[in-house]
Amino acid sequence: MDSRPLLIFDSGVGGLSVLAEIRQALPLAPIVYVADNGGFPYGTKTEAEIAARVPALLGRLAERYRPRLIVIACNTASTIALPGVRAALDVPVVGTVPAIKPAAERSTSRVIGVLGTEATVRQPYVDDLSHRFASDCQVLRHGSAALVELAEASLRGDPTPDAAYHDALSGLLDQAGGDRMDTVVLACTHFPLVADRLALVAPRPLLFVDGAKGIARRTLTLTAGDSWPERATPGTAIFTAPNEVSDGLRGALASFGLEKIDWL
Ligand code: DGL
Repeated sequence: MDSRPLLIFDSGVGGLSVLAEIRQALPLAPIVYVADNGGFPYGTKTEAEIAARVPALLGRLAERYRPRLIVIACNTASTIALPGVRAALDVPVVGTVPAIKPAAERSTSRVIGVLGTEATVRQPYVDDLSHRFASDCQVLRHGSAALVELAEASLRGDPTPDAAYHDALSGLLDQAGGDRMDTVVLACTHFPLVADRLALVAPRPLLFVDGAKGIARRTLTLTAGDSWPERATPGTAIFTAPNEVSDGLRGALASFGLEKIDWL
């Protein structure tokens, strides 16, 4: 029996949207979920800060938890630091890329929006995906640090106003061409956690697309043939800096199978 965990990494709770899909695909996989609250938020940091922080931290985490595979469940960290992480570690690493390809495949109006962090939406990687997979689409982009905070608050059960979700979506809808946008890439793993709130304030039905299912499929492929514990075990949430874990957050983590909490 191989009890080595999958290590799922994000700056905060966003990666839980990816964890949910991985748990469905691999219910017996031991899970260590890491929220880098010590570095949160990533989306307002510079490329240099993220490129320095993420490989070093994942190196420490890999040494401590000996994962069989690491999932960087964060668009910001992946679009900036994935090559650095892969070069530094001897563990398979699955990254998260903005789901521009599936969005372009499904858009009828050929106007798609990319809603991510400020750091993600300015990456050349997004230009590249747009050229390769959405060359006949108008691709609008908007970075929202506020929406990341809203997702964190909403997950721990704090009230969050409709108007704030409306503002985040308006960043796309108010751009030229936004009136024809029919599909929105949720290019930050925090955002699927509040997709229902975004849908509620949208002026018309929009299709929201994210990469979580694709990441789970990739994880399944890379672990094909692995052995797993016979029974599902409670997962662990790790925080990188001291924090108070409210009852709301504790309950939310437990609902994703993370019943134990620890600090790095
Ligand atoms: N969840 C992260 C992402 O997918 C970043 C959120 C943040 O720390 O700004 O981009």
